[in-house]
Amino acid sequence: ISLKPYNTFGLDVLADNFVRINSAQDFIDLKKNHQKLFEKGLFILGGGSNLLLTHDVSGIVIKNEILGIEKVKESDEFVWLEAGGGVVWHDFVQFTVDNHWAGLENLSLIPGTVGAAPMQNIGAYGVEIKDCFESLDAVNINSLEIEKFNGAQCQFGYRESYFKRGGKGQYLITKVCFKLRKKAEISTSYGAIQEVLKQKNISNPEIKDVSQAIIEIRKSKLPDPKDIGNSGSFFKNPTVSKELADKLKLNFPGIPSYAVEGSSDVKFPAGWLIEKSGWKGFRKGDAGVHAKQALVLVNYGMAKGKEIVELSEEIKKSVWNMFGIQLETEVNIM
Ligand code: EPU
Repeated sequence: ISLKPYNTFGLDVLADNFVRINSAQDFIDLKKNHQKLFEKGLFILGGGSNLLLTHDVSGIVIKNEILGIEKVKESDEFVWLEAGGGVVWHDFVQFTVDNHWAGLENLSLIPGTVGAAPMQNIGAYGVEIKDCFESLDAVNINSLEIEKFNGAQCQFGYRESYFKRGGKGQYLITKVCFKLRKKAEISTSYGAIQEVLKQKNISNPEIKDVSQAIIEIRKSKLPDPKDIGNSGSFFKNPTVSKELADKLKLNFPGIPSYAVEGSSDVKFPAGWLIEKSGWKGFRKGDAGVHAKQALVLVNYGMAKGKEIVELSEEIKKSVWNMFGIQLETEVNIM
């Protein structure tokens, strides 16, 4: 079957075998009873929202459709919610916002699924899932045992986790437990959020106001994968030494930058670097750079994964030549 409907880049590659699973047990039974299917490889698909497919997939593709949201524990201050790996991320965030459980509202409208969220420690507008993460359950693909991981074991970093490094390709994340606050601690440090709230005359925002503001900001900048294929930020925002940062600030007055906690290093927005290198709005065939956010590469319809990779390599070269910064890909290239 074609995986086009199952990846937000809308890339038309074929899978030999495609199986949906609704529980951890489904997966365990499948692997036990159909070993042969797994011999040519296994690929686990969540929302397909951080994925660039460059070729057809042999072996077996598993679509994680494990659903369900459950309140498992409660204290005066917190609730603990467990959600199935196949739950759509934004639906889960809306559920928490509707119930006035705070912590994930800044992560509204991020494409993908609950099970994929910890893989790259999804983040936006000053919040990352590690901030509300309690634990996750994952099936070890080799032993078929279910293992529990706490936050430390997940080794979360900026768009990073154990599941992108040492544990890559070895686990199926079946459910994730989050610890949310009953009394909100609103995080509106981002100027754009404050602007939207001000426009609406909201001075004491509730979490639903923050969520709504973020939905509006995202919709204004980021292309909806239903209209234009994309995987959000294609690159990470790079961190460089203070030495290089000082040189860049001198040569490029007005370059935006962020301090890096616990270090003298400086982070620069890749979107700005790419725009200054002249790529914003670029299009070759059906592969392009989004006109409103240069950090987002897009597929206007019939682009091949390889063409998008080639474009990303050209962008990396330009940014290197102009700024001496090596961009790192955020999207998983397969
Ligand atoms: N900028 C430009 N030109 C552009 C894009 C951005 O000059 O074409 C400048 C902006 O003016 C701003 C700065 O770059 O000064 C940062 O831009 P923005 O606030 O849009 O955020 P970002 O750094 O480009 C990151 C995350 C996003 C997240 C936003 C908001 C990464 C790789 N990306 O983007 O995450 O939504 O901040 O918190 O860290 C994702 O990971 O897929 C993603 C969309």
